[in-house]
Amino acid sequence: MELWEAIIGRRSVRQFSDEPIGREEIGEILDAARWAPSAGNVQDWEIVVVQDEERKRKLAEACWEQMFIADAPVVFVVFSNLNLLSRYRERGIMMYSYQDTAAAIQNMLRVAYSLGIGSCWVGAFDDEEVSEIVGAPEHLRPVAVIPMGYPERIPEAPIRHDISDYSYVEEYGKKMEKEWKGFVEYCKGVHRRIREKLGNSILRDLEKY
Ligand SMILES: Cc1cc2nc3c(=O)[nH]c(=O)nc-3n(C[C@H](O)[C@H](O)[C@H](O)COP(=O)(O)O)c2cc1C
Repeated sequence: MELWEAIIGRRSVRQFSDEPIGREEIGEILDAARWAPSAGNVQDWEIVVVQDEERKRKLAEACWEQMFIADAPVVFVVFSNLNLLSRYRERGIMMYSYQDTAAAIQNMLRVAYSLGIGSCWVGAFDDEEVSEIVGAPEHLRPVAVIPMGYPERIPEAPIRHDISDYSYVEEYGKKMEKEWKGFVEYCKGVHRRIREKLGNSILRDLEKY
């Protein structure tokens, strides 16, 4: 799958079919995690793969009753091993921990999407409950709960900010001038191409983005 397609086409999927996910696919998704960049290559991610129905239900409850999580055939629980980050002191614990695992999670979501598997990054949960449900020790910080399954329904893409809303030239607050317009037009061209590939069922009118 083309990279841009994997970037634009992935959606947070919250309705899953009953079709199970095979061991090979689970393996590929886990493999994707370890190729992420991490501070000093510490690779502090640790991932618990949950398929047991009762445990999935408990996880869904721990995620503030987001019960769609229990309907997914597989739920990945991603932790950061804080012991590995102590060498970076506060910066490691407060920053690299989240950054490293976020990069790994992003890889996982994209590879899942490339396999036709839907996913949803869930960050709203009770840390202690999630850790207890999967028996994780204290030095593991839960960062995300990720239900995955073949999509029953793929939502439309939520509206994104315009590039010029968040990009500046040289100094913060200095908006892009006319000369950057060509670049924005180029991006729109990429969007148009991907939209034609994916169809309008997945993407709303990207011209607005
Ligand atoms: C850190 C983080 C936490 C999130 N937590 C939740 C969550 O608790 N429940 C949920 O349904 N979606 C959650 N999401 C998914 C976002 O709602 C979703 O990514 C966003 O609306 C954009 O939609 P898209 O992923 O389809 O592009 C989370 C995403 C991130 C990155």
